[in-house]
Amino acid sequence: MTTSTETPQTTQDLFEQYVAPTYGRFHMAPVRGQGCWLWDEAGKKYLDFGGGIAVCSLGHAHPRLAGAIQAQAASLIHCSNLYQMPAQGKLAKLLVEGVMQMPGKVFFSNSGAEANEGLYKLARRYGTLTPKANGEARIEVITVENSFHGRTLAGIAATGQEKVKSGFGPLMEGFQHVPYNNVEALKAAVNENTVAIMLEPVQGEGGINVASPEFLRTTRDLCQKHDLLFFLDEIQCGVGRTGHLRAWETALGESPESAGIIPDAVSWAKGMGGGFPFGAIWLRNATRSSVREPICDLLGPGSHGTTYGGAPLACAAVTAGMEEILENDLAGHSAAMGNYLRKKLQEAELPFVKDVRGLGLMIGIVVDQGAVMALSACEESGLVPSLFLVGALNKAKLLTVPAGADVVRLLPALNVTEAEIDTAVFMLKTTFEKLVATN
Ligand SMILES: Cc1ncc(COP(=O)(O)O)c(C=O)c1O
Repeated sequence: MTTSTETPQTTQDLFEQYVAPTYGRFHMAPVRGQGCWLWDEAGKKYLDFGGGIAVCSLGHAHPRLAGAIQAQAASLIHCSNLYQMPAQGKLAKLLVEGVMQMPGKVFFSNSGAEANEGLYKLARRYGTLTPKANGEARIEVITVENSFHGRTLAGIAATGQEKVKSGFGPLMEGFQHVPYNNVEALKAAVNENTVAIMLEPVQGEGGINVASPEFLRTTRDLCQKHDLLFFLDEIQCGVGRTGHLRAWETALGESPESAGIIPDAVSWAKGMGGGFPFGAIWLRNATRSSVREPICDLLGPGSHGTTYGGAPLACAAVTAGMEEILENDLAGHSAAMGNYLRKKLQEAELPFVKDVRGLGLMIGIVVDQGAVMALSACEESGLVPSLFLVGALNKAKLLTVPAGADVVRLLPALNVTEAEIDTAVFMLKTTFEKLVATN
């Protein structure tokens, strides 16, 4: 305890002494926000184009979200999944009819990694019901290189990035990775032990990579041919971020067969809660192969659960946030603002930039690593180019997020304005040009 004679500790001191060092953090201490803006404890104002890593879909302190949380907290925060909570039933209907717009059911969790755990368990259950010729369960889930599916033990096994696995072996068995968008590799990977294929329609942590329509179609075809489950991880790219409520449909674009591509399950978190910790999976109401129950009923009573998932407070928050997104067509706004942002970035002719990719407001600025590393300040920092640039932007009071070594991600609130985009592009341009000029 601090006594009156001790010097008060700074936030940085508190982190160094008491917070486990699992994150490399910027020395910035945010205390309040409003829309796309954040203030730190020293009163400095930042333009937030990181959005809490694609979480704050309505921006900060949105009155509808804050109001719903306050009202629900004053009436019922938690009871138990032993009971039929009206708020959970109402939200499940909204997600099935308003977001997916196709028959199914929802299981509620508390985070993205935990939502995906539900998918892995569904795969194991389905593989037990539809075994290999020798009677053993099929257990293998195919995911792709550079994917990210969370930090649990199954999550790091599913993730196609060595850096999250390293030092945590032996990894959970039952995952195989193929190169993203490589149709032939995907076809070759399917074997008698395969039970599911799992993809992000747009990879976030992997550097903003969009699935090709051909890859999505091939996945669907292989799932039908070999009786596999088709899982989509829309945790980062879902519910409006890509300019559409269902990210895989944005990735498919106008391609003629897009209407026939329906996943068996989708995981959500991040932007769906608008900042309230939340996760969920949608499960399709359809039967497959010889199994009598529809997919949405395969995880029966006692098979899966979590104390907090779908609690009244979370459901009230998510219902309010999703109603705001649906009623104001923030997915459409995200598409329009994404186009505007990409156009402005192109016109700005920023130094270092090789490419701008992504969909809607999920944008990756790909930089020329050699050009950034040639800066003496980058060399001295010892940081990879993306992190060095995100740090420089942070100092200039524009918040962005790195992905891999060469991508700066822009993930602003879905209700961002053109004026805020203009300001962000101006900050990017002046920061990058200053780095060149002071080299
Ligand atoms: C695509 C994807 N899946 C899963 C996760 C894990 O979600 P959480 O951090 O809520 O566990 C993330 C988080 O970045 C993600 O981007």
